[in-house]
This record gives sequence, structure tokens and C-alpha cells, in this order.
Amino acid sequence: MSKATNSLFTHLACVECGEQHDRHQVQYVCKNESCKAILSAQYDFASNTLTKEELKNRPASLWRYKEFLPVVDEKNIVSLGEGFTPVLPLLNLEKYTEGKQVLLKDESNNPTGSFKARGLSLAVSKAKELGVKEFVIPTAGNAGGALAAYAARGGLKAHVFMPKLTPAAFKFEARLFGADVTEVDGNISDCGKLANAQAAENGWFDVSTLKEPYRLEGKKTMGYEIAEQLNWTVPDVILYPTGGGTGIVGIWKAFNELEQLGWIGSKRPRMVAVQSDSCNGIYTAFHQKEERSTYKDNGFTVANGLRVPKPYADKVILQVLRDSNGNSVSVNDADILSALRELGAHEGLFVAPEGAALWHAYKVLNQEGWIKAGETVLLLNTGSGYKYLENII
Ligand SMILES: Cc1ncc(COP(=O)(O)O)c(C=O)c1O
Ligand SMILES: [Zn+2]
Repeated sequence: MSKATNSLFTHLACVECGEQHDRHQVQYVCKNESCKAILSAQYDFASNTLTKEELKNRPASLWRYKEFLPVVDEKNIVSLGEGFTPVLPLLNLEKYTEGKQVLLKDESNNPTGSFKARGLSLAVSKAKELGVKEFVIPTAGNAGGALAAYAARGGLKAHVFMPKLTPAAFKFEARLFGADVTEVDGNISDCGKLANAQAAENGWFDVSTLKEPYRLEGKKTMGYEIAEQLNWTVPDVILYPTGGGTGIVGIWKAFNELEQLGWIGSKRPRMVAVQSDSCNGIYTAFHQKEERSTYKDNGFTVANGLRVPKPYADKVILQVLRDSNGNSVSVNDADILSALRELGAHEGLFVAPEGAALWHAYKVLNQEGWIKAGETVLLLNTGSGYKYLENII
């Protein structure tokens, strides 16, 4: 039985040149050859009738926002219960948090233990709606596991390209979910080239970060949740571990949409892109006031998800950092690991190394006085530490 989601999705627009793209077809990036920027789903918010009150009775998953998501028929939703993750205040690290409220949104509670579940639930559901049967993804680990899980759940096929230097649990889970996993002697950019070539050869749908429009729609639900969980306010600062940067772009999009709905005002958090010294092109470009980043790869980092030498959406990420009066911090592996142990020992949280980088970055910004007394800071812990054991022990 088919049941409408009552989605207000109207069209896909290029973020650079504005060109509209047909939402009934499978789309990647802007078709305009001289542009090729990312596509962004647009909605008719003026026609919304859903109220904040009605939302309270909705299921505790990201599909509670289904009117503002692109899937139009409920039968196409491929779900494992993703989203509506807890926002936890840090309680026992007063030495650093005194006079501030430091919150951690814990995305490790998602299916497959990371925030990648959000984007892949959306991408797989929408692709299913458009008739896609076979997917391919280049991944630092978490996205591959999430694609494999959602493909299995939807009765579809996944091909995963992952660097050889990825912890074993990531390879294991993707294979457990029935994906065909190729280990690549290289970084995620090398995986991306192989995935792209295989997609063209075999007619598979390539769900690389921000090269298809719907993972972003899943990630934006983190922004919807943050606002709803803070009773329709936004924090003063959000720290986000930035690889491909979908979360930064998505959370920013969410706040703009919520303002169009009249559910929040014009206040925005200062957005902070936290990177690893391994790949800190965004950090460098931000501080050098560049419009784009340049390819940078210093090799292995314990935060595998942060080894992204050149994010496709670098220009959009840098724009968000500037528009929000934000910042960027780069962290080395030793500091990531000690931050991870500190959160474990004092808060009972086993965060992913990517999330741990945020705690170190917070301490740096706090020490510098960039974070001020009375401010609310939200750390977006993107995943669980359990899959990274051999990077940590
Ligand atoms: C746990 C974790 N955090 C952060 C990232 C980076 O995410 P994004 O590509 O959205 O910047 C990844 C990517 O693999 C990840 O697995
Ligand atoms: Zn364009």
C-alpha cells in the first residue's frame, strides 16, 4: 500500500548557478559543465501546516521531519531507526567547562554506530524511489558500513571501496551486510576514482559525499534535531569534525529552513570545522582567507574519517564558516587520543577519534578566549569509538 509522506519537496537547485534539475531523475552534481557545483533540495515551506506541537507525537527518528525530506512515498523509506540521538551535557570536566554549557550530541547511537546512517538512509530511500538497484561508495569506513546496511535492508546491492589502512571492524561490518568490499592501497580520493570508474562501467549509482543531493538531506536532520532538542533555540557554537563536510553544509541548511518555517529566529551558531593535521586543507584555506582548499594529504590519521584531502564542497564549507563568524582548528593524533581517553574516563563516552578531536579543539578555543563565559557549545560526536580499536589501543 502506498502512502504519501506529504513531502513539500519541489525541486533541486544548483547552489552556484541556481539551475533547476529534474527531481524525478537520478541526479549527481550540476549538469552545467562550467559549474558542476552541488545540488540542494528545495521545499515549499510556505505551504507547511505541520506544527511544533504535532511534532512532539512523532517517532523518535529523523523521519519525524518527513515533510521536509525528499522521499514522497512512505513505502520507499529504508529505515533502521536512525536519528533523534541524545544531547548530553558534559558533567565532570568543570576544569574546562566552568561558566559554559558544553553539550555533546551523540551520533554513536545511530544504526551502524555513526551519523553516516542519516545520509545513507536518505540516499538509499530516495534512490530506491527512483528505481536504483545497485550502489557504489568510496569510504573512510563508516559510510561504507552504513550504505551496506541500508542496501541490505532495502533488498539492494552495495559495492564499497575502502582504504586498506581502515580498521578491520569497518571491513567486517560491510561484508557482514552483504556488500562487495574492495580494499584500496591509497586514500579516499583514490577510492573515489575507482568507484567513479566502476559506476560508469557497470551502471551503478555513485553515492560519493555531496556528489548526489540526498545524503545532505539526511545530515541536515542533525540541525533540525539540535534546534528541537534545545527547545527551538540554537547553541552559540557548534564544533563539527570535517572530512567531506556534509554535516556543516547540512546543519546550516537546516537552520535556514527552520527560519523559513518560522520555527527559529535569525540567530545562528558560530560553526567550527575541526580537522586532523593529516588533512587540514579547510583549516589552511580558512585561515589564509582562500575561497577554496588545495589537495593535502599527510598520510594516516587515527581519525580515518578526517583523511579527506580535498572536500568536493570546499567552497560551500568555507562560506558557511565565514558567514557564521566561525573558525577552524587542526588537531594531531596524540591530542585526539588523549581527548578520547579523557571523555571516556570522565563522562563514560567512547567517542570516535573524529569526535574526540572536537574535545581537544574546544579546549584550544576556550583557552584562547574565543569561547566566552555564558556560551552554549555543542560538540557533534559523529560516531562510536568501538570500531576503531586498533587505532586506539
Ligand atoms: C566518525 C566520522 N566523523 C566525521 C567524518 C567526516 O564527515 P564529513 O564527510 O561529513 O565531513 C567521518 C567520515 O567518514 C566519520 O566517519
Ligand atoms: Zn550550477
